[in-house]
Amino acid sequence: MTQIATLFANDINRQIEEVIKVDQTAEDVVAAEVDEYVVTDAIKRHFVDVFERYQETPQKPHEGIAVWVSGFFGSGKSSFAKLLGLTIENRTTLGEPVSDRFLKRTHDAKLAVVLKTINEKIPTHTVIFDVSTDRGIRSGNQMLSQIMYRLFLASLGYSDDLDLSELEINLEQQGELESFKEVYREETNREWDVGKNRTMFALNEASRTLHKMHPETFPMADSWAKANVNRADISPGKLADRIVLLMKRRKPGKSLMFVVDEVGQFVARDVQKMLDLQAVVQQLGVKGRGKHWIVVTSQEKLNELVSGLDNRNIELARLMDRFPLQVHLEPSDISEVTSRRVLAKNSNAEQALGALFEANRGRLVQNTRVQSDIRLPDVDLDRLHASALSLGLGGVGYYPYSDFVHVDVGPVRTWYG
Ligand SMILES: Nc1ncnc2c1ncn2[C@@H]1O[C@H](COP(=O)(O)OP(=O)(O)OP(=O)(O)O)[C@@H](O)[C@H]1O
Ligand SMILES: [Mg+2]
Repeated sequence: MTQIATLFANDINRQIEEVIKVDQTAEDVVAAEVDEYVVTDAIKRHFVDVFERYQETPQKPHEGIAVWVSGFFGSGKSSFAKLLGLTIENRTTLGEPVSDRFLKRTHDAKLAVVLKTINEKIPTHTVIFDVSTDRGIRSGNQMLSQIMYRLFLASLGYSDDLDLSELEINLEQQGELESFKEVYREETNREWDVGKNRTMFALNEASRTLHKMHPETFPMADSWAKANVNRADISPGKLADRIVLLMKRRKPGKSLMFVVDEVGQFVARDVQKMLDLQAVVQQLGVKGRGKHWIVVTSQEKLNELVSGLDNRNIELARLMDRFPLQVHLEPSDISEVTSRRVLAKNSNAEQALGALFEANRGRLVQNTRVQSDIRLPDVDLDRLHASALSLGLGGVGYYPYSDFVHVDVGPVRTWYG
């Protein structure tokens, strides 16, 4: 006898993660996520919209560089945003570029052309993270700009400690970073790129190294540490300046895309954080001139979030204009996604089940019809009838003399009894 498990296109015992973690970028995980991604027509249109806009930036630099992805719990926001970043960056996973994997899921010529063009013409570095898990230790009042900066620095190979990265950037500027690393190695017997992650020690060790290199400027081993620790700070404007500067240094010719998950929840009901977000997007737009993008996700649509605030700050109203691309993932897609992802049958099973259904169609339809005769004491029968008809979902029979409306889930029909 055939087991139900053997009818499906995919192994029904495979692991399906309930939620997508954007910062989980292990190659096997990413490959599996892309290979199982269902591109519905609505999702395809959203991808095309964003891709087309991204593709035109080199010719027509503009400030509309921000994408707001919203949708209910589990509607696929994280998946969408992550895939947007990964396909635009087109990193290779398990020997195959992500874009190729993704395009196999759609076979859509338009999508293929625009994505290939982006991959060829606009090489892009991505920084993808979840702001609810990457807040760091002193999270309480950290702003998005600070979190973005730390992760951006780390993605380029700088220390994610603001004081240490400031030092690295300045040394690099003066062409001294390499000699600093050498002296550090002599001093500590450790590589700087390893040692700098032990922040507690690294500050003092760096200070000692600088004293060795420039005793006239740093007369004591702790001179630099005393004068510089906890001085570095970041604002949205400086973040944008640094992005422009450091991208030129470490990723010349490349564009940048931030994908930040759960921003909605992070900024909701916090005017300062919203103003910071608005300033980040504005500064990135003005200073990056279309080269530096940001994609964020939120359960709420942007207008819902902004209008939910009591504060009618004019700057906040501008936040709406900063996100010209707004993608809302509809719940209606969820049923298509689940039926295609989980219930898809293999071709043998599809044929066999199809034949079985045809052979028994009459009996199946008759016996599985879901139907009901409805009478609601408080609702006028005509209104009940009209609302059943307006659904357009199945059969509707009107029985005024017996005082009920019949509804069923068969083909859409209507009759009077
Ligand atoms: N288009 C799709 N094709 C296949 N699976 C999908 C698709 N969209 C979402 N899923 C699956 O649905 C689940 C939820 O998706 P995801 O985590 O992206 O949603 P979310 O909107 O970010 O959820 P949350 O609100 O909990 O953050 C995951 O298992 C994901 O793999
Ligand atoms: Mg999510």
